[in-house]
Amino acid sequence: MPHRSGRHFLQIPGPTNVPDRVLRAIDRATIDHRGPDFGRLGLEIFDGLKAVFQTAQPVVIFPASGTGAWEAALVNTLSPGDRVLMFETGHFASLWHKMATRLGVSVDLVPTDWRRGVDPAAVEAKLKDDKQHQIKAVCVVHNETSTGATSRIGAIRKAIDAAGHPALYMVDTISSLASIDYRHDEWGVDVTVAGSQKGLMLPPGLSFNAVSERARKASQSAKLPRSYWSWDEMLANNKSGFFPYTPATNLLYGLREALAMLQEEGLPKVFARHARHAEATRHAVRSWGLEILCAVPEEYSNSLTAVMMPGGHDADALRKIILEAYDMSLGTGLGRLAGKVFRVGHLGDFNDLALAGTLSGIEMGLALAGVPHKKGGVLAALDYLAEAARAAPRKAA
Ligand SMILES: Cc1ncc(COP(=O)(O)O)c(C=O)c1O
Repeated sequence: MPHRSGRHFLQIPGPTNVPDRVLRAIDRATIDHRGPDFGRLGLEIFDGLKAVFQTAQPVVIFPASGTGAWEAALVNTLSPGDRVLMFETGHFASLWHKMATRLGVSVDLVPTDWRRGVDPAAVEAKLKDDKQHQIKAVCVVHNETSTGATSRIGAIRKAIDAAGHPALYMVDTISSLASIDYRHDEWGVDVTVAGSQKGLMLPPGLSFNAVSERARKASQSAKLPRSYWSWDEMLANNKSGFFPYTPATNLLYGLREALAMLQEEGLPKVFARHARHAEATRHAVRSWGLEILCAVPEEYSNSLTAVMMPGGHDADALRKIILEAYDMSLGTGLGRLAGKVFRVGHLGDFNDLALAGTLSGIEMGLALAGVPHKKGGVLAALDYLAEAARAAPRKAA
């Protein structure tokens, strides 16, 4: 590929743009992962992670993509034939379901139209029906990255409690952690699954399980085979900052830096920034006369927006034109949404002007591809951003 001037716009909903500070932090000599410097690094990171998960519980780090942390959540807590409740909110929820089935877990899958999050009332009804308490876990994807719909994790906790059901609660926060408010302890989650490559602003390669006391207790009797993913050796080693096997040392340097950056900005400001960019994006989409895939406004995602294409127009053709003309990558439609939607990632290390550039690339691309739309989406977003800056003055965010 010949050189292209300027930065590539990586506006898929993860992996996200890795800030220079994180890249510089990773670019250091690898150290002995059994030596004293590593122990200090480990302890610092395990401590810093707790703030991001909003938990006092331990957070396990795997050298793996998010899929590994899904598997770890299941194999540490369940036994062959156990029943779990899952909701097919989109492509990623479907993949988690497929994995659970392959592992020998019996899944009660509640379908949706892929345009909304999990209905807390449906959780309550399902659990109330399960008088024998055979359902061992409720598994929910917090932010469904394929659709841009966010489930209400606190409300689902209340639904589980209202049913008086003892099931474990497992939540995938792979595209919400450090972008959308998420509270492991307050919302009584037993296992939180997360990944490095989205809100945490790191390259892909690390994934996480935040683990409650109840989940650790369940792991003592869980019979699904596990070795690499086993929490017990991890937790024992992590106490002194170490790992039972070779950790991804350089990614951990990056994680330490990313945690410092999130702490400097402050989580409430991080969440507000994502909310602002999501709302500005929706202003643009509506002005273009296009439809947002998520059908429930209170479940709109702050991490990404999935935009429906007008009938007869292919989202991937539009994405290709935008990539070739403006050097910007947008997210493709996944599973049954292939060709029907494109996804705009507005999470991670991102600011108002980067969003303005992203939306400009889309508006120019719509014109270039001959997709019917109204002009003015970018202007609508800029007006919204300017109003937000007037209402809440800030130095830079
Ligand atoms: C919500 C969600 N869950 C799970 C995954 C799978 O994670 P990974 O691709 O890192 O294995 C993704 C990936 O984008 C995701 O967005």
